[in-house]
Amino acid sequence: MFRRLRNCNNVEDMRLLAKQRLPGPIFHYIDGAADDEITYQRNSSAFDDCDLVPNVLAGVEDIDMSVTVMGKKLDMPVFCSPTALQRLFHHDGERAVANAAEKFGTMFGVSSLSTVSLAEIGALTDSPKLFQFYFHKDRGLNSAMVDRAKAAGFDALALTVDTITGGNRERDLHTGFTSPPRLTLKSLMSFAAHPGWAFNYFLRDAFELAELKDHVPEGSNVAVSVGDYFSSMLDQTMNWADAEDLRTKWGGPFCLKGVMSVTDAKRAADIGATAIMVSNHGGRQLDGSRSPFDQVAEIADAVGGQIEIILDGGIRRGTHVLKALAAGATACSGGRLYLYALAAAGQPGVERALSNMRAEIERDMRLLGVSNIAQLNRDMLRYR
Ligand code: LAC
Repeated sequence: MFRRLRNCNNVEDMRLLAKQRLPGPIFHYIDGAADDEITYQRNSSAFDDCDLVPNVLAGVEDIDMSVTVMGKKLDMPVFCSPTALQRLFHHDGERAVANAAEKFGTMFGVSSLSTVSLAEIGALTDSPKLFQFYFHKDRGLNSAMVDRAKAAGFDALALTVDTITGGNRERDLHTGFTSPPRLTLKSLMSFAAHPGWAFNYFLRDAFELAELKDHVPEGSNVAVSVGDYFSSMLDQTMNWADAEDLRTKWGGPFCLKGVMSVTDAKRAADIGATAIMVSNHGGRQLDGSRSPFDQVAEIADAVGGQIEIILDGGIRRGTHVLKALAAGATACSGGRLYLYALAAAGQPGVERALSNMRAEIERDMRLLGVSNIAQLNRDMLRYR
């Protein structure tokens, strides 16, 4: 079946359109996860083990779904998680996502492995922006990235703590996916089968990792898998003192991305972090790890009110967002939920993905009997 954007009503529709448009290795890089992808699947299916209990006659004409995250008001309770390599998926890359997020009044997370510079993204939009920091062995690179994020007016910094070594992404091993893509007979054949993608990739601005290219050749000029990049370039000595030090150097709202345990959530609060992203990196790192939704209630019981809790991972539906918030999350975020749409259709695709999600949340809030996010609570949830 030939798919079009106007028929994409949910994340899965966008996924199928992205699959149609992208060369296989690139689609599977987005779509794939670690080992047997059990955690990746569980990130979404965990929501099915919990039912919503609606209330009626609640006067739900006016819906306010805004939340405040790291000092910024967001018009919707879900934002775009930072994800890498976006110009590989669509030639506008981060520019498309930044513009779409701004239109919907939500936050855009930009990766250290971004393909558009922080300076350009900072100049492009006024909406809230989060910089996702990878702690490299190269300390000069680390401090340059902090300085550039400050200069570009980023509002918050998220230190990624779940990539201390590369996850075992077997789909990437199978397809040979690297950044930048290695030109082999097999990859050239998959590019030739997707001429629209290939035209844009080869004839528009050359691919590069804008924040890294002046410091390390890997990723821009030297082809590496993302797993190898993590294992060889990131600093495996990273510890709590480094995280605290980075928070001080940054000086603004600070988040740890990839916290899963109550113990670590408490420590994050102790070092003065503003927020944690409860995340297993989209199931791309430790397969067999618990899902964010399975874990969020116990984290909220331990540190709710002391630190903001962002549930990152598995969100496919508005009801998933509402379940997460009712369980105690401050807000939700996701990568694939807008990345498929970016690959499918650039900025109009991301706008349609955010519009679908916003419409679902609004409809589901009315059906659940709440008119603002503060009204969501555990009484509305029943675990099976
Ligand atoms: C990933 C990184 C780059 O591929 O976020 O999971």
